[in-house]
Amino acid sequence: MNRYKIAAVNGDGIGHEIVPVGLQVLNTVADRFGFQLEVTHFPWGAGYYREHGDFMPADGLDTLRQFDAIYFGAVGLPDVDDTLPAMLYTFKVRTNFQQYVNYRPVKLLAGIEGPLRNKTGQDIDFVVIRENNEGEFVQNGKIVHGDSPYGVATDTSVFTRFGIERIAHYSFQLARRRRKHVTNVTKSNTLIHSLAYWDRVIGEVAAQYPDVTYRKMYVDAASANFVLRPEIFDVVLTTNMIGDILSDLGGAIMGSLGYGPSGNINPERTFPSMFEPIHGSAPDIAGKGIANPIGQIWSGALMLEHLGETEAAGAVLSAINAVTAQGLRTADMGGTATTQQVGEAICAELRNHA
Ligand code: NAI
Ligand code: MG
Repeated sequence: MNRYKIAAVNGDGIGHEIVPVGLQVLNTVADRFGFQLEVTHFPWGAGYYREHGDFMPADGLDTLRQFDAIYFGAVGLPDVDDTLPAMLYTFKVRTNFQQYVNYRPVKLLAGIEGPLRNKTGQDIDFVVIRENNEGEFVQNGKIVHGDSPYGVATDTSVFTRFGIERIAHYSFQLARRRRKHVTNVTKSNTLIHSLAYWDRVIGEVAAQYPDVTYRKMYVDAASANFVLRPEIFDVVLTTNMIGDILSDLGGAIMGSLGYGPSGNINPERTFPSMFEPIHGSAPDIAGKGIANPIGQIWSGALMLEHLGETEAAGAVLSAINAVTAQGLRTADMGGTATTQQVGEAICAELRNHA
């Protein structure tokens, strides 16, 4: 029997509600397909920071690297400095573990009426591939004389040929397994050095995939197209910050941020990959049991796929679609279902007939 060691990090806020439900679904599908998840819980995040002065212990990364994958909720709390979560947890794990692919599917689930009238699950079906290790989010900057009238602040983006080439190859190879189309979402008309170089290197990689069509699109136009013509996208290849922003827009056109899944993937498997929903810790609804768990559950399906349990991953996605098709909705979609009820309905589908 295949066994996988999973590190579970609820994080903060709704993470404490949706990660357990996600694990319940994962255990159910493991039973059905005959594999085992050995889950170890780590109470890390902003809550942990309040007591220990850090988001994880000093040897936290050494601990995490012994696992096959990390199943993560989100970190951040209103009373903890919000410049810390990325630095002390999310980007720390993503960069140290070379999870340079942020894989974010955007797909309208069965039966969901999204905000885009007349757009179906055929129209809204693409993947945002966000470069996850460099770009705008390298935290390479400084505040100088911040309290004075001469205050200066910088955050300098970093783009390397190595970093651009590897995310570009990943995207074109993914496109080969999908509808063979890559859109590079950029802003090289104004970021005339960094993103012009990004475009140039991606163009060189594109030339190695003549069977994949390639186009470049500026992010302002792409934002409009996410809403007006989502059907033109297949693989959206973009930078760390643009991808962060566009994937929330992707969540929105699926109907709710609560539906969006993601994988922080290390394709070479030199370190574990980490799976989390696209949204944050949603402190405004935390503790009420009403968070939409589907992005978290779907992230679990991406984790199974990465672990090689492809059939089980497909079963989870079918079960999610069966439940959304039945009309079960949490409050973010105007419904009254609880987090737990949605999780249980998905487990029931898996046990019965998914
Ligand atoms: P957020 O994504 O947590 O929430 C934005 C809005 O979407 C809120 O109204 C929230 O209630 C709603 N929402 C999000 N997920 C939902 C779900 N599953 N079900 C129903 N409604 C949902 O973003 P926000 O408010 O900007 O940030 C809150 C905290 O999360 C901050 O501390 C931020 O730094 C952190 N954050 C952490 C991330 C991570 O750990 N990867 C990612 C994004 C934000
Ligand atoms: Mg985000």
